[in-house]
Amino acid sequence: AQADEARAKKIAGGSCFLCHGAQGESTSEVFPRLAGQHAEYITKQLTAFKSGARKSTAMVEMVSKLTPDEMLALGKYYEKFVLPREEAKDPQLAAMGRYIFHNGNKFSGVPACVSCHGTNAEGAANLPRLAGQIPGYIHTQLKSFNKRERTNDNAVMHAVVEKMTELEMAAVAEYVSSK
Ligand code: HEM
Ligand code: HEM
Repeated sequence: AQADEARAKKIAGGSCFLCHGAQGESTSEVFPRLAGQHAEYITKQLTAFKSGARKSTAMVEMVSKLTPDEMLALGKYYEKFVLPREEAKDPQLAAMGRYIFHNGNKFSGVPACVSCHGTNAEGAANLPRLAGQIPGYIHTQLKSFNKRERTNDNAVMHAVVEKMTELEMAAVAEYVSSK
C-alpha cells in the first residue's frame, strides 16, 4: 500500500498537477477539482477514459499507460485532500440552486439532486462529490449529459438533466461549488 501511495504521488506530481493542481485544487475554471473526490468514482472515470467510454482529448493520453492499481492509488491519493470552503460569487444564483438541489423542480419534473449526491453534496463511492467543485466544470458536464456527449453509464444523469434549463444548471453549479 505504501508503494502504491508513492507511485500515485509520483504520477500526480509528474503530470496531473499541471491541470488538476498539486493538491487536486485545479488550476483553471475548466479543469475539475479532484481533492476530496471519492477514490471509487475517480477510478471509475479513469477506467472510462481509458476504454474510450468517456471522451476527453486532455485525459485520453494521460490514462493510456495507467494500470487499474495505479488508478485506484491515484483515487485514494486525491480523496485525502480537503478543499477550503469558498463563498458563492453570486449569492442569489446560489440560493436558487439550493432550492433545486434539495427539492428539484416539481413543475417540470427535475428530481432533487440531494437523493443521490447527499445532503452536503458530499457524494459517496460511485456518486461524485459536487461540493467545492468548479462551477464552470459542473455546468459543462450538465450540458454534456444533456447533449449525450458524456455517455459512460449515465442513463441516470441523462434523465436528470433532460428537463433542466440553462439557468437551473448554472444555479445548482453555483450552489454546490460553495458547499
Ligand atoms: C477529468 C484525473 C491529468 C484535464 C479528470 C477526471 C479525473 C482526472 C479522475 C474526472 C473528474 C470528474 O469526473 O469529476 C487525472 C489524473 C491525471 C490527469 C489522475 C494524471 C495522470 C490531466 C491533465 C490535464 C487534464 C494533465 C490537462 C492537460 C482534464 C479535463 C477533464 C479531466 C479537461 C474534464 C474532462 C471532461 O470534460 O469530461 N481527470 N487527470 N487531466 N481532466 Fe484529468
Ligand atoms: C454525476 C449533478 C441528480 C446520480 C453527476 C455530475 C454532476 C451531477 C455535475 C458529474 C460530476 C463530475 O463530473 O465530477 C447533478 C445535479 C442533480 C443530480 C445538479 C440534480 C438536478 C442526480 C440524481 C442521481 C444522480 C437524482 C441518482 C438517481 C449521479 C451519478 C453520477 C452523477 C451516478 C456519476 C455518473 C458517472 O459515473 O459518470 N451529477 N446530479 N444525480 N450523478 Fe448527478
